[in-house]
Amino acid sequence: MKRVLIIGNWKMNLNVHEASILVKRISDLIQVHREVEVAIAPSMLTLQPISQQIDTRKISLAAQNAYYKDEGAYTGEVSFNMLRNLVKYVIVGHSERRIYFHEDLEVIRDKVTAAIRNDISPVLCVGESHQEKTEGETKRVIHDQVTTALSNLTAEDVEKVVIAYEPVWAISTFGGELAKPSVVKPIIDLIRYNVKELYGEKAAASLRIIYGGSVDDQTAPGYLEIEGVNGLLPGSASLNYHKFSEIVNSAYRLTHKKP
Ligand code: 13P
Repeated sequence: MKRVLIIGNWKMNLNVHEASILVKRISDLIQVHREVEVAIAPSMLTLQPISQQIDTRKISLAAQNAYYKDEGAYTGEVSFNMLRNLVKYVIVGHSERRIYFHEDLEVIRDKVTAAIRNDISPVLCVGESHQEKTEGETKRVIHDQVTTALSNLTAEDVEKVVIAYEPVWAISTFGGELAKPSVVKPIIDLIRYNVKELYGEKAAASLRIIYGGSVDDQTAPGYLEIEGVNGLLPGSASLNYHKFSEIVNSAYRLTHKKP
């Protein structure tokens, strides 16, 4: 069985001091589990100090973004190359970056490529907007986002990718309408089907697909029970150590319940 992956996306919250306190509280509340991997994505500024503080058997690090060139005159950017050996994951293509920073399909493809080139697993976020959903465009949007983002990768590379299905309309920032597990399941299946068509059975089976969008301690079990869901990407709930550790604990309980 694949390890369940729970990644807390802290977004642009907490200074270095506050981040250190939260990480301490989370570490005190969670155990090392063979079946559950816990990662946090704090701000770029706090990655380095937090890396000194954490026990990597308990908590892995993820960056929220990086630039696809390895080095050069790109004022203000941090490259995947600089994050090598510091983080295990980088979130790529989050809807907040697509919307606020105008990242298009090609930029996201180049970031996914750069992550793999630098031995970092990209957590590729895909998801339709409210308008796309009401216009019946979900399948096309997901297909375009998945296939373009992975298009420079080999089947072997694809096995290292994590895809996060995050319907934009379900993210707390954009309204936070709760997505029912019955609505999430067919999209998870669709993502795996898209990957299988392009990269074959093995890549599709190895790739991890996680869910994000207003996940908290109450809703986490329902999403984790969906067949084919390999983890969760909570945002605001990951800033609350009680809620976040409860999400991790529910993942642990479910892995023990599953045959
Ligand atoms: P919320 O859990 O706050 O809806 O955020 C989800 C998200 O965007 C995680 O990347």
